[in-house]
Amino acid sequence: MQLILAPMQGLVDDVMRDLLTRIGGFDECVSEFVRITHTVHSRQTWLKHVPEIAGNNRTPAGVPCTVQLLGSDAENMAVNALEAVRFGADKIDLNFGCPAPTVNKHKGGAVLLKEPELIHHIVRTLRRSLPDHIPLTGKMRLGFEDKTLALECAAAIAEGGACGLTVHARTKVEGYEPPAHWEWVRKIREAVQIPVTANGDVFTLQDYLDIKQVSGCNSVMLGRGAVMRPDLARQIKQFERGESINEADFGEISGWINLFFDLCLAKEANNKYPVARLKQWLGMMKKVYPQAQELFERIRTLKEAHEVKQVLLEFERMQRAKR
Ligand SMILES: Cc1cc2nc3c(=O)[nH]c(=O)nc-3n(C[C@H](O)[C@H](O)[C@H](O)COP(=O)(O)O)c2cc1C
Repeated sequence: MQLILAPMQGLVDDVMRDLLTRIGGFDECVSEFVRITHTVHSRQTWLKHVPEIAGNNRTPAGVPCTVQLLGSDAENMAVNALEAVRFGADKIDLNFGCPAPTVNKHKGGAVLLKEPELIHHIVRTLRRSLPDHIPLTGKMRLGFEDKTLALECAAAIAEGGACGLTVHARTKVEGYEPPAHWEWVRKIREAVQIPVTANGDVFTLQDYLDIKQVSGCNSVMLGRGAVMRPDLARQIKQFERGESINEADFGEISGWINLFFDLCLAKEANNKYPVARLKQWLGMMKKVYPQAQELFERIRTLKEAHEVKQVLLEFERMQRAKR
């Protein structure tokens, strides 16, 4: 079985990928999408979006990282993909699921699900341009407004030459509203000849067992659930290995929060980035952990990184003392 950390623009950047892959359980991760319009990105731009490229395409914990592209100009996407490979990328994924209106307005992401022929053209063009040893995969939603073209889009990706497909089991219009339609992942898995990864609404170990059962997939991608419950992948891996499940307490999680903040500061030694990323993460974790809510309240009005760090260290000490 494979566990993949989902690409999440603005949420799972290289720092979050670093942290979550250190905690463990993930076999792979995927970068935030890199948008391709009419230009060819420089090496600097690739490294800014996917610093792992300079580290043998692995996070510091050694987990492989795939570069995701988003666009609709097949020829220019191919030129950019080749550049990414020249700078070190060794696996490319194509985004056919982003619901953002600005992206869709420029014919990128989920809007392409209305045009399976264009999807096929994009995948085939990239497959033909890339060296054979560079795997090319795709990620799709079930459709734009409805699911009538879901199988056609999946076939377009498979027949275009992708060697893997991730399905986020919702249409664009369904946004992130539950439920995710895992039974559709099964339909797609049964219809295409390439391995399919199931994705959507896995927040607990039980959800993981359910998505596997309903979809029949051996590969599962975790998105928001992995951010809200940072040891979710580790719990799943422990379960799959028949080991006892060592669910993190908030003492351990507080250690990860401190580490995350330090990693953010190491990336950008200012106040804005580390404080904003921490608040964003706590804002998600507080849905699962009351302690995250408490910590969020303590730092809510703080703007200076050094003040936040003091609170984080004190909070970790308190949480560890409670063990
Ligand atoms: C904030 C956010 C950003 C996302 N960015 C991307 C992205 O860059 N590329 C992509 O393919 N999917 C993106 N997605 C979709 C996720 O990869 C995933 O398919 C979706 O969140 C469903 O999985 P989940 O229910 O486990 O979160 C994003 C989702 C969220 C919530």
